This record gives sequence, C-alpha cells and structure tokens, in this order.
Amino acid sequence: MRILIVGGGGREHALAWKIVQSPLVDTLFASPGNPGIARHATCVDIGVDAHESLVDFARRERVDLTVVGPEVPLVSGLGDRLAAAGLSVFGPSARAASIEGSKSFAKDLMRRHGIPTARFSTFDDPDRARDYCRDVGAPLVVKADGLAAGKGAIVCATIEEADAAIAECMERKAFGAAGARVVVEEFMLGQEVSFFALSNGGDAIPLAAAEDHKAIFDGDRGPNTGGMGCYSPVAAFDEALEKRVMETIVRPTLAALAREGAPYRGVLYAGLMLTEQGPKVVEFNCRFGDPECQALVVRAPGDLVPLLLASARGEGWPPSVPWPHVASVCVNIASGGYPGTYPTGLPIRGIDAAEARTGVHVFHAGTARRDGTLVTAGGRVLGVTAVAETLEAAIDAAYGGVLEISFERMHYRRDIGRRKT
Ligand code: AMP
Ligand code: GLY
Repeated sequence: MRILIVGGGGREHALAWKIVQSPLVDTLFASPGNPGIARHATCVDIGVDAHESLVDFARRERVDLTVVGPEVPLVSGLGDRLAAAGLSVFGPSARAASIEGSKSFAKDLMRRHGIPTARFSTFDDPDRARDYCRDVGAPLVVKADGLAAGKGAIVCATIEEADAAIAECMERKAFGAAGARVVVEEFMLGQEVSFFALSNGGDAIPLAAAEDHKAIFDGDRGPNTGGMGCYSPVAAFDEALEKRVMETIVRPTLAALAREGAPYRGVLYAGLMLTEQGPKVVEFNCRFGDPECQALVVRAPGDLVPLLLASARGEGWPPSVPWPHVASVCVNIASGGYPGTYPTGLPIRGIDAAEARTGVHVFHAGTARRDGTLVTAGGRVLGVTAVAETLEAAIDAAYGGVLEISFERMHYRRDIGRRKT
C-alpha cells in the first residue's frame, strides 16, 4: 500500500514513524515532510496548501491513502479535492472541518444539539460584544471566530481585559479576517484534557486522552504556544469518563454533523474542560493535536493503518485492541524567543544520543538540513518523546533525552507531566 502524509511538523513525523511500521505499507511519501520524516518516507516538496499539486501527485503515484496532518488544508477543502478525484483521504471535508474552522459554527451546533459547552454569544459588532461582557461579568473568554494558529482565544480576568481583547481582535485586527467575528464565552474552571476519537462517518471509536501544556514557561506562565509538551494517559480521564464523553459529546456531535449534511471522517479532537458539572467542550479540532499525537503514537497498540483506512473509507472498524498500561511524555524543545521571533539555522546536536536511550523517540518539528548539517528551522524544533511503565519513568526518560540535545538558545519546559491538578 502507498500512503502520502501531508504536513511537515512533529505530528506528521510521529504519524510517519507509526505508519511505516505497518506491514500493509510498502511506500510512504510526505509533503513537504522534514529531515526526521525523511528517515521513514520520501519527502516531496509540495506545500500543504497546494491542493492541485497534491491531488496530481497522489494520482500520479497511485497513492492508496492520503493522511492530512494540519487543519489549514482541511478547512480549505483538500479532503474534498482528493475525494472528488476518487482518492481515499484521512481527514474531514471542508464542511465537517468547520467544527474547527469556525468557532461560531461549532458553538451553534453544540447549542442546537445540547452538547455541553460554555455559555456564549457571537458578535460582528465590537460595541455589542463589549455590552455583552458587562452583562455576563468577568472572568470570560474572547475568541476570534476563525483559524488563528492556536492564539485566537484570550482569557480575560477583568472587563478591561475583555475590552482590550475585543479591540485587538475586531478593531486592530490582530488575527486578520479570523477576528472580524468574535465568540464571547463564560470561563470554565477545571482540568483541561485533549481527547481523540476516530470517526468513519457513521460510527466513532475512542483513541486516548492527553494533557497539553500550552504556556511557554514552567508553571503555565507566559504566552500560549502551539503546545510545549504533553503526557498520556490522563489519570482523571478514566474509562467511565471516556464512556461519558463518547456518549454525551463525541457521538452526539458526529450525529449532529451527519444530520446537518456534513458527515465527519477522520480524527475528532475534543478539547475538554473537566468541570464540577462534568466534561464540557472548550473547542473541537479536525485533526490530531501537536504534540498530543507524538505522545499517543508511541503508546498506541497495534497497527494504525487499518484504523485510518476504515475512517477514510467509511468502513467497519478492525477488531479493537486495548491500549497497554504504559505512559508517554513529549517534551518540546523550542527556539529561544518562541512564540515571538526567534533565530533559525542553528546547528542541532545530540539526537542520536537521545534516541539511544530506552523508550526515547525524537520527533522533528522545525528542522532543516543545510549542507549536510541539521539546523533549527522553526519555533518548536524537536519533540523528545518517551514511553515507559509509569508516568514518572516516562518523564525521567524524556528529560534524559532532552539533556543529550543542544543548540544555541534552546528552550524547554521542565515541568511537563508534573502539573498539580
Ligand atoms: P481554544 O483556542 O478555544 O482552544 O482556547 C485556547 C485555550 O484557552 C484553551 O486551551 C483553554 O486553556 C483556554 N480557554 C478557552 N476557552 C475557555 C473557557 N471557556 N474557559 C476557560 N478556559 C478557556
Ligand atoms: N496542542 C494543541 C493543538 O494541537 O491544537
């Protein structure tokens, strides 16, 4: 079987690492890929937004399945284009991907179908948004409606902060067109969990949960990033809670999408808050999390490819294999300065030594090869991922790996997996 992975970050490296282990796969391509992915796949220099070129490539190379990693091409319709060309694609249609692409679409859908989430209202007019904030009172959350690379949600402790957030989104247009409309919602208190389920358009199966650490500094301080590290499984997210989330959130959401003419195929990422009133949706995403995917694949049992195929083709699920009782941790190493501006092109050392450690895998996120040397090429550079019998052992192993790696001004959090809840 011939598979194409679209994307070139840590999530796609993790998917490539897992997919290439499948006995079903004889050829793996990645577009554009990265130097880590190049160890498992043939990288082709096509950008994730070059829909036409990706469809042509998949046709020409007789690709049996295209796995789309990031949200942007899904929201802009790459899945539809591939499907229209008769190709199998893991990832939803643009309509179904609106569950991530438009927060107001997702919130309205949840409201219509009684899916637990924060109370909210949607605004195109900044003055009306400001009035609403006064009615509801702080704390609250102001969110740009469209895709904003994980930076469009502003938690506001006071009304003044909410006013500033509305001005930032709607008047100063910090998120461009994505912030022309805002969702203002009630603040939810609780532990945040990323939960992943696969859908084949008719039926869903659970994968697993992970907890992300979004802030740049230890103790959840500083600005939010795409994710500085995570661990899996999450103790609070036990079997009973997983069942409850499947029954009250995941299945009703997928059924609602199907009823509204947008059946969902692919992985549904439910960002959840475990509140005193039970689990509620913070947001939905239409793809695997990054770095959650890295922590998931190293502990996932068996072959992922039959699951991806069933989801893509709308077929029945293969027999389920229980997840082993092991824990995993992914620690991202970032460029100094991220999530602001940062240098690139700095030589990276020590990956082989890190990977020589038991249970450690280093997934490339922002790297490039220049004149034969591996150098930094992005904000998040490497995801040092470890799997072990216990969370403590996985944390130790991952940080053991991190200590082997060096590049100028590297930054990582020292408390991944150690959040006090
Ligand atoms: P989002 O882009 O919707 O995932 O929001 C980004 C982050 O903001 C989330 O991961 C939460 O930590 C926080 N957040 C968003 N909405 C809420 C909410 N209603 N209550 C509390 N925290 C929130
Ligand atoms: N780690 C958060 C995300 O992928 O959106």
